[in-house]
Amino acid sequence: MPKIANDLDAFLTQHQSRIEGELFDFLRIPSVSAQPVHDADTLAAAEWVKRSLEQAGLAAAVHATAGHPVVVGEWRGAGPHAPTALVYGHYDVQPAEPLDLWTSPPFEPEVRNGRIYARGSVDDKGQLFLHIKALEAHLRTRGKLPCNVVVIAEGEEEVGSTNLESFIEHNTKLLAADAVVISDSSMFAEGMPSILSSLRGLSYFQLDVQGPSGDLHSGIYGGAVVNPAAALAGIIASMHDANGRVAIEGFYDDVSPFSDEVLAGMRKLPHTDDAFRREIGVKSLGGENGFTTLEKLWTRPTCEVNGMLSGYTGDGAKTVLPAKAMAKVSCRLVPNQDPARIAELFEAHVAKHTPAGVTVKTTYIHGGRPWRADLAGPIFDAAKRAVSAAFGREPVIVGEGGSIPVVGDFERILKAPVLLVGFGLPGENAHAPDEWMSVENFRLGARAMAALWDEYAGS
Ligand code: BES
Ligand code: MN
Ligand code: MN
Repeated sequence: MPKIANDLDAFLTQHQSRIEGELFDFLRIPSVSAQPVHDADTLAAAEWVKRSLEQAGLAAAVHATAGHPVVVGEWRGAGPHAPTALVYGHYDVQPAEPLDLWTSPPFEPEVRNGRIYARGSVDDKGQLFLHIKALEAHLRTRGKLPCNVVVIAEGEEEVGSTNLESFIEHNTKLLAADAVVISDSSMFAEGMPSILSSLRGLSYFQLDVQGPSGDLHSGIYGGAVVNPAAALAGIIASMHDANGRVAIEGFYDDVSPFSDEVLAGMRKLPHTDDAFRREIGVKSLGGENGFTTLEKLWTRPTCEVNGMLSGYTGDGAKTVLPAKAMAKVSCRLVPNQDPARIAELFEAHVAKHTPAGVTVKTTYIHGGRPWRADLAGPIFDAAKRAVSAAFGREPVIVGEGGSIPVVGDFERILKAPVLLVGFGLPGENAHAPDEWMSVENFRLGARAMAALWDEYAGS
């Protein structure tokens, strides 16, 4: 079993309470990228990350974009012949609402039972910060890193990373790397460190249905007028067939199957549908017939309703025929589906299933490409050794149903392999009330990522 170098381990142990205090400062900044009232906080978080990178010993700058800024830190002291790694993370967080469901306030971090509770603790501030501390361990103990490292932290991941692709395209020299490393995902289970082999992509839509020019009395008019809420329900219902397949014409055309080897690996993971049902609190599961649960989650595309709004939803009863209805609907994509192509197919499907008597406007909000790794090369071998050194156990290879839109862009624009090694855990409530990160995983993750640079440069 590989071992983490003593000096790095000792540094992280000696500085543990200072490091955790700094993480708490980071978590106190409500950098909610989706909410304009938090724009100043989001900027403050960017500046906080810049100072943190500088304190670790990197040269850092905040770069303005059309949206929230990008922070880049650099340490190039290993010279032009040493490899360069690019570390990516995001300093923005999801909205904290509904606030009344939090046990302690979302931006007042608190440790309970070995868990750091705060919005952004695991997604992704804690995981970004453990990388910064891993770099600091090298630079403060040895005055150097064994390879060049560039860190890029964005503030728009939770709103679709709309400005990051062009930032990368305009800064290929600054960001050029032999490998990209990202910790913004979870382990399969506690004590089972994990490397991701795939991510799903995304196409996100809003549907706005307009019926009559104003709300109507449902007795005086109802029965002779197409109801926008019912029309929307019908459009949404038309998106799946009786076997749970997405019924949008052409939806599966570009799906390329996962290899037998990857599918066999998934079957070896310790998953049971019983435990999964208990975790989420349902009596039975759904989805596309003919696939296992992990296949459905990691290897199959979906179409999900994220929200619906129409008519009267207050106390008691109000007899009204609503003039409008709205839904948010998003498709998760797998290789080689293209978000823009899916948007065309989706719009055509909606148009085809819109009854006369209402009009529907489909807005494509954002999208991201799916991604699949080939998991071969020095960064993956180094990660396996580094993670084994910190966790005392070889990482497992897992798929992922979530999306990180920029991953495909990094690979395509920088032509570098992307290593996704995350330290979250199932049930950590990312995007939900009571988000937490395990203190133990924060500590072990920092050690694993410190060991990564020794292993990568030595390989
Ligand atoms: N870190 C998550 C994605 C993720 C979750 C990866 C769990 C692996 C395991 C990321 O911050 C996220 O929430 N992504 C969004 C993307 C969207 C806003 C474009 C998602 O998947 O919904
Ligand atoms: Mn994230
Ligand atoms: Mn997220």
